[in-house]
Amino acid sequence: MTKPSEIKEWNAIAGYLYPDEGDYLYNIAAGLKKGSVFVEVGVLQGRSTAAIGLGCKESSSTLSAIDHFLGNYEQQVDSSISQASYGKALENITKLGILDFVLFYPLESFKVAELFDDSSVDAIFIDAGHTREDLTSDFNAWFRKVKTGGHILVHDVGTGIWTGVDDAVRDFKASENVGEVKLERTLLHLCKK
Ligand SMILES: C[S@@+](CC[C@H](N)C(=O)[O-])C[C@H]1O[C@@H](n2cnc3c(N)ncnc32)[C@H](O)[C@@H]1O
Repeated sequence: MTKPSEIKEWNAIAGYLYPDEGDYLYNIAAGLKKGSVFVEVGVLQGRSTAAIGLGCKESSSTLSAIDHFLGNYEQQVDSSISQASYGKALENITKLGILDFVLFYPLESFKVAELFDDSSVDAIFIDAGHTREDLTSDFNAWFRKVKTGGHILVHDVGTGIWTGVDDAVRDFKASENVGEVKLERTLLHLCKK
């Protein structure tokens, strides 16, 4: 099993995921039971999508990758930040030969959540809006969709920059039945109890 961090094409994908975080997501996806459902909210250009998709290929699972491709506020005001791009994401996933394992939803997160049954998702990675309100609305839309025992992964936790993320995570842990598994650099791994 070749980890994302060992793949030249993966390292070349623009985005904000550290290589060890990419490998962590890959391991979660690769360790799922065959036919599992992984959801990702926040694709940008497909860096995390590719890490998870490579793992889904190992476990014969499927990744539903969601992004409205309108970018976050900070991407709109700072042109040096990589821009969200459906075309780039498709190109990056295709280059890695994992298109069969990734289903793109170029839509608003809560709209896609309505398409999923409750308790149907084995793992979710949330890396979309980074304000307290944005992340709280993702938790509200998706928590009931996750199976008991399912993985909930959140990016940019404890950075000192994304304080809204930390606030939303604190609220979420206090209000929902979740256990903390690990903080892998800025990637928080929770489990639905
Ligand atoms: C930080 S970037 C994702 C980075 C990506 N996970 C990576 O590994 O590079 C956040 C993305 O979330 C998307 N986004 C923000 N709010 C969203 C929403 N409510 N619904 C769908 N996509 C959203 C933006 O368009 C942007 O591409």
